[in-house]
Amino acid sequence: MVKVDTTGAAAFFGGNGPDYEAAAKAHETLATKSGKGADFTGWGELPRRIKETELDAICAAAEKIRGRSQALIVVGIGGSYLGARGAIELLKPLPGEGDPKVFFVGNGLSPDYLCDVLRQLGDKDFDVNVISKSGTTLEPAVSFRIFRELLIKKYGDKADEHIFATTDARRGALKAQADEKGWPCFVVPDDVGGRFSVLSAVGLLPMAVAGIDVRRVIDAAIREFDALDLRSSENPAWQYAAARQNLYNAGKTVELLACYEPSFRFMAEWWKQLYGESEGKDGIGIFPASVEFTADLHSMGQYIQAGRRDLMETVVRFTKCRDEYKIPFDAADADGLNYVANRDLADVCRVAADAVKAAHIDGGVPNMVVEVEERNEEGFASLVCFFEMACAISGYMSGVNPFDQPGVEAYKKNMFRMLGKPGAK
Ligand code: PA5
Repeated sequence: MVKVDTTGAAAFFGGNGPDYEAAAKAHETLATKSGKGADFTGWGELPRRIKETELDAICAAAEKIRGRSQALIVVGIGGSYLGARGAIELLKPLPGEGDPKVFFVGNGLSPDYLCDVLRQLGDKDFDVNVISKSGTTLEPAVSFRIFRELLIKKYGDKADEHIFATTDARRGALKAQADEKGWPCFVVPDDVGGRFSVLSAVGLLPMAVAGIDVRRVIDAAIREFDALDLRSSENPAWQYAAARQNLYNAGKTVELLACYEPSFRFMAEWWKQLYGESEGKDGIGIFPASVEFTADLHSMGQYIQAGRRDLMETVVRFTKCRDEYKIPFDAADADGLNYVANRDLADVCRVAADAVKAAHIDGGVPNMVVEVEERNEEGFASLVCFFEMACAISGYMSGVNPFDQPGVEAYKKNMFRMLGKPGAK
């Protein structure tokens, strides 16, 4: 289970400290589905609800793709891609032998990026997993059209056999196309919003193709959600949610999510969407940002240490490293580094993290630590369940509907009108 340490934030808490009564109330609202956006709270049940037949279908599709293709093109944006990308980069930063390379497209409109992917894809055999709950989002729709055309050029009348759709069970343009063409279809459940969908087929199919053991992920997620149902201030989701709400009310309006593992980068992107879209509304909300340590200490470190004092920092820590590497001893010691010779790099990293934490607290940045054991399927599942649960509780504590995203429509409306989409005003 995830552990949270808020002792590095204690000196910055306002009032009577974290409000666990409010956290308890928010948790109860969530559990009884009696709050705003209750129709979109099915994410907490996903791991228990997923049927063996669906897991079998996901694993069978993944095996088919792994057996015949060197690449999978995942088409999707926002909640329809960030979780899978976060998982794959965290757990499989380098594809293992026999693992297809997973490319993510449809998450922007850059022709340069698209052409870079096409160049890397070359003449590799590939499959496409198109993911869109609505089936109408412009960015993935454009990319899907492009990759469908490529499939047709490459595989002719067998092209449709290389397409896997993940979409709404009944509605939308993608569902209609899938039904017409006979593409295998996986479902984004009605009661789960995009940013909470990583433990559905949305995340699981790309993860399985990349060689991640999705059954292990699901089993671990069941255990973690059960543990997070604890109704007490020992619940790490309460601790994190209540601490960050308290700090926000005390003027810390920006939260930096930091990690010392570069492979965490897209998990941080996933987290930013989860928290930004859930809490940033009605004129309020903590602004979620992310940094990669120690790299960003040499770019953002100055600001964190001494810029505007509206920051709080949450560090995700894996207690075990996958690998060990000792720093070599050099008799000449021309670089003066022998004081760390023969020490494990992980040990040096731990010392650096302690030093950073102390410096940032001294500099006025409250520090919270979110700890899991390993960078593996269980660690990933724990982080997902923890951050989702804490996000819902934190959102309800702040008074917003954590499950809608009305603000996302404004740019789309303008864009559709400017592009001349029929019916757009
Ligand atoms: O969290 C969300 O709801 C969004 O990020 C969506 O996932 C994103 O806009 C993509 O939508 P769709 O899956 O309908 O293409």
